[in-house]
Amino acid sequence: MSIDTVAVLGAGTMGHGIAQVCAAAGCAVRLQDIDEVAVTRGLERIRANLEKGITRGKVTEDERTGVLARLVTTTSVADAVEGADLVVEAAPESMEIKAAIFGEVDAVARADAILATNTSSLSIGRIAESVSGPDRFLGLHFFNPVHIMKLVEVVWGPETSDATRDAAVAFVRRLGKEPVVVRDAPGFASSRLGIVLGMEAIRMVEQGVASPEDIDRAMELGYRHPMGPLRLTDLVGLDVRLGIAEYLHETLGSDAFEPPELLRSMVAEGRLGKKSGRGFYDWSEA
Ligand SMILES: NC(=O)c1ccc[n+]([C@@H]2O[C@H](COP(=O)([O-])OP(=O)(O)OC[C@H]3O[C@@H](n4cnc5c(N)ncnc54)[C@H](O)[C@@H]3O)[C@@H](O)[C@H]2O)c1
Repeated sequence: MSIDTVAVLGAGTMGHGIAQVCAAAGCAVRLQDIDEVAVTRGLERIRANLEKGITRGKVTEDERTGVLARLVTTTSVADAVEGADLVVEAAPESMEIKAAIFGEVDAVARADAILATNTSSLSIGRIAESVSGPDRFLGLHFFNPVHIMKLVEVVWGPETSDATRDAAVAFVRRLGKEPVVVRDAPGFASSRLGIVLGMEAIRMVEQGVASPEDIDRAMELGYRHPMGPLRLTDLVGLDVRLGIAEYLHETLGSDAFEPPELLRSMVAEGRLGKKSGRGFYDWSEA
């Protein structure tokens, strides 16, 4: 099926970026949020991304005009979803919120629309229980910042049809991104591996094995990771990583995911990484 009209629900960090890349690929995009201020901010962030793209020679004036012309904003789920070929939800990481949103979406979406969630970790199969026809439901896990990061995990739930999965893979390629196809398992492919590395690196700091700088350098120079696990944790947010680690520890049961005490105490102290000015590194000048 061809995907020409996309509804993006949630206009925060991920939603605005998803809306931008879909509009850049030529789709008509409706960007929705329950919060009027968030929708306005989302649109401003898209404008700023495009502006920066022009400055860097990555985006032309015509492309910017095209993207903005193809985007509309709304606070109404019905206005966003009606007639859309694809719905991508990027609301907060809560099963209750996502289930409620898809309950509402189900009532207004076209019967053949593809429904996707950008969840980082929650079960696709469980969220799909909120919709009729879970064969058209799947995960599209974009990475932050969306307009720059190439990877999208296409996560197929127990009921997702092959046709839905194939259409999603083709759409991700059309966005100029690289799909990886993953079964619905906690943490998918990226978080499951990334969190193990992140938690172990924090345990190593806790045990005085090496400094954060040296642990990161070991992975950057020894394993060719573009960024070490502690700097990455600072960028993602220590609170965000703690939440994912707790969820994976609970669902997968392995001690590898158990959040170290150091992580818990840093989060309790408000040392959340770049966004709070301090994590494993000092970001006050950043
Ligand atoms: N931030 C990341 O790096 C990242 C990466 C990959 C996936 N994700 C996932 O993407 C999703 C969104 O994360 P985010 O970082 O963009 O969050 P965010 O807090 O930046 O944005 C969420 C937005 O959803 C809005 N919202 C709340 N309830 C809503 C509702 N009922 N309907 C519509 N909008 C609603 C909020 O007003 C907010 O603007 C989460 O599931 C998260 O796990 C985040």
